[in-house]
Amino acid sequence: MSETAAVILAAGKGTRMRSDLPKVLHPLAGQPMIGHVLAALGPLELGRTVVVVGPDMDDVAAAVAPHPTVVQPGQNGTGDAVKAARAALAGADGTVLIVFGDTPLLRSDTLVAMRAAREARPERAVVVLGFRAAEPGGYGRLLLGPDGALTGIVEARDATPQQLEIELCNSGVMAVDGARLFDLLDRIGNDNAKGEYYLTDIVAVAREQGLDCGYIEAAEAELIGVNSRAELARAEAVLQQRLRAAAMEAGATLIDPDSVWLSHDTVLGQDVTVQPNVVFGPGVRVGAAAEIRAFSHIEGAEIAAGAVIGPFARLRPGARIGAEARVGNFVEVKNATLEDGAKANHLSYVGDARVGAGANVGAGTITCNYDGFDKGHTDIGAGAFIGSNSALVAPVKVGDGAIVGAGSTISRDVEADALALTRAKQESHAGWAAEYRARKAATGKGKRKKSG
Ligand code: UD1
Ligand code: MG
Repeated sequence: MSETAAVILAAGKGTRMRSDLPKVLHPLAGQPMIGHVLAALGPLELGRTVVVVGPDMDDVAAAVAPHPTVVQPGQNGTGDAVKAARAALAGADGTVLIVFGDTPLLRSDTLVAMRAAREARPERAVVVLGFRAAEPGGYGRLLLGPDGALTGIVEARDATPQQLEIELCNSGVMAVDGARLFDLLDRIGNDNAKGEYYLTDIVAVAREQGLDCGYIEAAEAELIGVNSRAELARAEAVLQQRLRAAAMEAGATLIDPDSVWLSHDTVLGQDVTVQPNVVFGPGVRVGAAAEIRAFSHIEGAEIAAGAVIGPFARLRPGARIGAEARVGNFVEVKNATLEDGAKANHLSYVGDARVGAGANVGAGTITCNYDGFDKGHTDIGAGAFIGSNSALVAPVKVGDGAIVGAGSTISRDVEADALALTRAKQESHAGWAAEYRARKAATGKGKRKKSG
């Protein structure tokens, strides 16, 4: 079987983004746009994927590694861009899929269908992905012969008023016979409105050679091209809808789906409930039947079955929350493990720490993990009880079952089952407060003034 290869065109400057960041590195659902394109190509098991970039796009090359990149020196059009991949595609004589780096919502299924359509007949040189545009505007239009076969593509700038009436547009995605691709590209010219080499011209060239060209259609929402921040936001909205639908399909309840923001890799287990206004940054897995309450912000975290998070919790990278554990309101957890059944329910910072199974971290407890230079680790044993408003100065260890009295500052290890407290001794002076008030009253201070 011949190898399928892919070319991703990403040499465009993306000037309309008005950004220092190359367009294809702008994130959608927590992943650079071009990462979504690579992910869509993933299931096709390609021999190679070559990314065409412009000069000075080393950060794009780094983002797509280990896939190779080739540099298109000038911006001479989509046809010229594919030509830049000639050497990198040497010997690729199966189907070559050509996709754009700025069309991130393309689905794997569509690409599979494109390849199948191309390979349906040996004389079929090119298959184009078309769509019916609500506003065809600047898109290229697919030209069909009387038999319905694809005869050419005309760019909007070069089209006649009659051709501009055509609703069937070119998405830019193509599947081309690799054995013929570069021969076709060598035959296109640049005698057009932009003076560029249009990839789209290979259709007419192939037809002149007596080769067969076809098209398939996909939904417009799948083919949103991102050229501006507004289009980036539109693409994000479509992607979020897809991710929410997939999460619900997999058995999670999203009480108010539209207010939950998911990352491309968020995994929600069966019977997870997510309350409104929750943000999942990249790298989050939530186990079965866990509950994520409103206004929580979670990234890089592993949450086990039956845990309850929030409302108003913040889990940062490296947070690992055990089964049935609880992280309550205004609690921040970073690079720390709460083992099964552990609780930190109110107003705490737990960073660089382990909280043993069933331990209770009282309200206002802070792990003092940073001394301005180094990070230290706090280890809280199973079943320990940390009294409210305690400071645990890392590195420090509280043994299993130990109790720390409220308001303590713990800077030395506490043995298992011990009580540790660092409070100043409490003094009590009987009647002092009443005497104090009487003394002040005699000076006339503190009396309620008459109004007016
Ligand atoms: C292209 C198609 C048009 C289609 C539209 C869909 C051509 C000639 N036209 O037009 O039919 O309807 O996409 O969105 O193909 N690029 C390079 N090097 C270049 C030029 C472009 O790598 O020299 C890359 C861009 O980074 C981008 C892609 O190719 O990822 C498309 O380029 P763009 O300039 O946006 O093409 P359109 O004018 O939109
Ligand atoms: Mg475009």
